[in-house]
Amino acid sequence: MSKLSNEEINNIRNSVNIVDVVSTYIPLTKRGKNHFGVCPFHDDRDPSLSVSSEKQIYTCFSCGATGNIFTFIMDYDHVSFYEALKKVADIGGIAVDIGYTKPTVQKYGELYDIYETAQLFYQNNINTEYGFSAKEYLNNRGIDEAIIKEFGIGLSLKDNEMLTKLLKKKKFSDEDLIKSGLVVNNNYGHNDIYYNRIMFPLTDISGKIVGYSGRTFNNEDTSKYINTKETPIFKKGELLYNYHRAKDECRLKKQVIIMEGFMDIIRAHSNGVKNVVATMGTAFTKNQAVLIKKLAPEVIICFDGDNAGARATIACSNELINIGIIPKIIRLENNMDPDDYIKEYGINRFQHKIDNPMNVMDFKISYLKNNRNLDNDSDMANYINDVLSELVQIEDDILRELTIKKVSEESGLDIEIIKNQLAQKQDIKKPVTAIAKPIINKPKIIDKYMMAQQNLLYYMLKSKEVITVYNKKVSFMPTTRYRFLAQEINYFYKEYKYFDLADFFSFIADKEDMLKTIGEIMNLNLKEEYTLEEIDEYVNAIKEFHVNNECNRLVEQMKKETDVMEKAKIAEKIRELKVGTNL
Ligand code: GTP
Ligand code: MN
Repeated sequence: MSKLSNEEINNIRNSVNIVDVVSTYIPLTKRGKNHFGVCPFHDDRDPSLSVSSEKQIYTCFSCGATGNIFTFIMDYDHVSFYEALKKVADIGGIAVDIGYTKPTVQKYGELYDIYETAQLFYQNNINTEYGFSAKEYLNNRGIDEAIIKEFGIGLSLKDNEMLTKLLKKKKFSDEDLIKSGLVVNNNYGHNDIYYNRIMFPLTDISGKIVGYSGRTFNNEDTSKYINTKETPIFKKGELLYNYHRAKDECRLKKQVIIMEGFMDIIRAHSNGVKNVVATMGTAFTKNQAVLIKKLAPEVIICFDGDNAGARATIACSNELINIGIIPKIIRLENNMDPDDYIKEYGINRFQHKIDNPMNVMDFKISYLKNNRNLDNDSDMANYINDVLSELVQIEDDILRELTIKKVSEESGLDIEIIKNQLAQKQDIKKPVTAIAKPIINKPKIIDKYMMAQQNLLYYMLKSKEVITVYNKKVSFMPTTRYRFLAQEINYFYKEYKYFDLADFFSFIADKEDMLKTIGEIMNLNLKEEYTLEEIDEYVNAIKEFHVNNECNRLVEQMKKETDVMEKAKIAEKIRELKVGTNL
C-alpha cells in the first residue's frame, strides 16, 4: 500500500506522541493512564474518546472509532493516508520524500474533474475583457485582485454554451455534465446553467470544489444567488463555506465565528479575521454543528442583524447546544450584516464585538422578551417559563446561576421558586434526552460462536501468543468480517515478525470496515489476562461451528442420496467428524 517501508512509517508515527497531536484538535483531560476527550467522530457531549500514550492509539467507547495518529488525522481532516503521514512527519520533524502522492481513487472523480475544468474557465473569464464589469462590481465592493484570486472567484459568460462546449471537448459524458449541475438539457440542447454571474466555488472540508454559487451583478436577473443542485459530493447541509481556509486559524485562535453569507466571510477574512465560516443562507444542521465542534472550543454566532438573522441565531444555537456547545452571540445594529458592519465601522469596532460577545442566555432572554409586556402577569409567567425551558438544555452551572438570578430580579420571584421550577423541568427532560450510551455495544443475544470469534480476536490484538495459537489451530473464522481481520493480523505478524496495534493501524488505515470491527472488538472490554485454556475454548467453539456446518451439509446430502451404500458412507463420515470434536 505504500512506497515507504513499514519501518519508515513506524518511525514517522513514533516521532510524535498521539496525545500531543490529538490535543491540538480536541481538548483532552488526563484520567488514570489515559487521556479523555469528547469524540469528534460522532455527536456527543460526553468524553468517550480515550487516547493512550502507552499504546499510541485512540478508542471511542461509544461509537467504536479507533486507530492511530494517522487514522485520526485521516478521519478528522478527511485526508488520505499519505497526507496524514506527511502531516505527522512535519510535526515530528522528519524529512520524508514520498514523491507524488496520488490522490486516493475517488468515487466521483468525474464530478471533481468537471468542477476543476470549470474553475479554470471561470477564473480565466474574469481576467479577460468579458470580466470588466464583474471586476468593477467586485472592486466597488472592496474585493480586489488578491481576494478574487484567494477565493477563486470567477465569471460565467453571457454566451451560455461556452462551458458546455469546453466540457464536451474534454470528453466528459453528457450524463456527468448534467449530474454536475453546471449543464442543463433543454429545448436547445445542452447549455450552461450559469451565465453572466460571478462564480463562487464551493469546497468541501478538504478544499476540493464540489459546486458553485453564482451571484448576479446586474439587475437583469431575479435570484441573487444560484447554487448548484445537490450531488453525492455536495450536500448543502453538510458543508460550511470557507471551512478549509479557516480551519487552521480556528484551531490557533481556539475560536470559530459563524456567519450567514459569502460576502461576510470574504470581508472578514480580507480584514484579517480569518476564523470564519458561513452557512450560506440555509438552515443550520446537526452535521454542520458537528463540523463546527471539530474546529474550536469557542463558537461565536454572528448572523445578520435583521429579524431573520435573530431567528436563525436561535435555531443555530439550539443545534449547537444539542451537541454540547454553548455558543456566544454577536448582534449587529441597524439590521446590518457583518459585511456592511465592517465596511461602515471598520474592523476594529467589529473586533471589539468579537471580544465582547453576549452569552447565549442573555440573547435568548432578549429574544423572548420581544412582543411581550412583562408588566402583564401572564406575559411574565410565559416568559419565565420559556426562559427556563431554554435553560434546561444548557449544562453550564455558571450560566444557569446567572440566568436564574436575572430572572429573579426581573420578576421579583424568589430564587428558590425559580430553581424549583427549573428542577421540575429537568426531571421531565431527563428521560427523553438521556444520552444513549454505547451505540455498538448494545446487549444483544449473541451465540457462543460469535463470542468465541470476538474473544479470540480480542486477545489476538493483544498477544502474539494467541496469534500463533490461531495460526496453528483455526482454519478460518466463520463470520466474514472477523475472518478478514484475523487474516490481516496473521499476515502482519508473519510479514514483520511482531505485532503492535498502533503499527497495525497504519497497515490497515484505508480499511474503514476493518477499523470499525476492531473498535467493536476492543469495546468488549474483556479482562486483561487470559489463560490458554480459555483460548482453547474459543478455538474449539469455532471448530465445533465448522463441524456442525459440515454435518448439516452432509445430512442434507444424505437425504438426497438414493443409493443405500452411499448413504451409509455419508453417515460414517458424519460419525467420524463428531468423534473428532467430541460432539
Ligand atoms: P450580498 O447580498 O452580496 O452581500 O450577499 P450576502 O452574503 O450578504 O447574502 P445574504 O445575507 O442576502 O444571504 C446570505 C447567504 O444566503 C448568501 O451568502 C447565500 O449563500 C444565500 N442566499 C442569499 N440569497 C440567495 C438566493 O437568492 N438564492 C440562494 N440559493 N441562496 C441565497
Ligand atoms: Mn450582504
